[in-house]
Amino acid sequence: MTRTVTTRRLTGLKPTGEPHLGILLGAIQPMVRDQYTSDATVFLADLHALTAAHEPRTLRETTLRHATVLLAAGLDPDRTVFYVQSQVPDHAELHFLLERTAARGRAAYPVLQASDILLHDTAEVPVGADQRPRVALTRDIAMRFNQRYGPTFVVPEPVTPTVAARVMDLANPTVKMGQTTSSASGAIGLLDPPALVTRKLSRAVTETDGIIAYDPAARPGVSNLLEILAACVGGTPVEIGTALRGYGDLRRATTEAVLGLLGPLRARFETLARDPGYVRQVLAEGAERARSRTAETVFRAKRAIGVLA
Ligand code: TRP
Repeated sequence: MTRTVTTRRLTGLKPTGEPHLGILLGAIQPMVRDQYTSDATVFLADLHALTAAHEPRTLRETTLRHATVLLAAGLDPDRTVFYVQSQVPDHAELHFLLERTAARGRAAYPVLQASDILLHDTAEVPVGADQRPRVALTRDIAMRFNQRYGPTFVVPEPVTPTVAARVMDLANPTVKMGQTTSSASGAIGLLDPPALVTRKLSRAVTETDGIIAYDPAARPGVSNLLEILAACVGGTPVEIGTALRGYGDLRRATTEAVLGLLGPLRARFETLARDPGYVRQVLAEGAERARSRTAETVFRAKRAIGVLA
């Protein structure tokens, strides 16, 4: 397999909660598209999920569920190095070395994230605005380390994800989907049955004057539906808005588009979920591929620091 572009990109996803439409449109789809044009690595950051109070069995199940969803959504483990963080101990080892040497007084979580990124000689990290400070800290740690111990790490750049579909909560369209726990009706679960998806969209909050215009600040409800529709069918929210006749039309078109997108994903999920051994096997092979790269980075870091490598 030849890769057209070799820029190495890394994405980490925390496997918590139920995967929803916002994650599919905002993160998973860009990731699936990117895997054909970049050297892509995707991992499930289960070690990052340990900080919050959690039920051990639930974490394990949720991690496997997220992995299955990603594969069902089209992540191709032949294209993308795809694995679970805890299955590559180099994350923990580099984290330890960076905590000791380059990150005095920093909170553990961001330093672990820096280790994730530096382990892979990552050139680009696709992140939303909320994660940019994390990449900035990673750059800082990498530059200090390189200055102090000699060239060891690639200094990564944050990049804006290809499709910046910002999907908001259907019941409260001024907050991102998945961020409120108060409104179960505001998030569309990727595995929700079609009748439930239809019901949630039929109740999505809109403005009340009947005007269809894409203006997220002034018209968050309608703009969110336009954004979802555009991300599902292609095109821009503005363009798509001009072809619609009213809110009924907008809801119908959005419902149809979302059902069309989720139907095949659900079917593939159900097939894969019947064979968890296969998913585990894919992850084990991914971890193996990752390790051959990350072991080399840890070796370099140890040698640079001066411990016997
Ligand atoms: N902190 C990220 C989140 O909460 C997940 C993450 C962990 C990550 N390590 C990463 C993202 C490395 C990008 C690169 O979503």
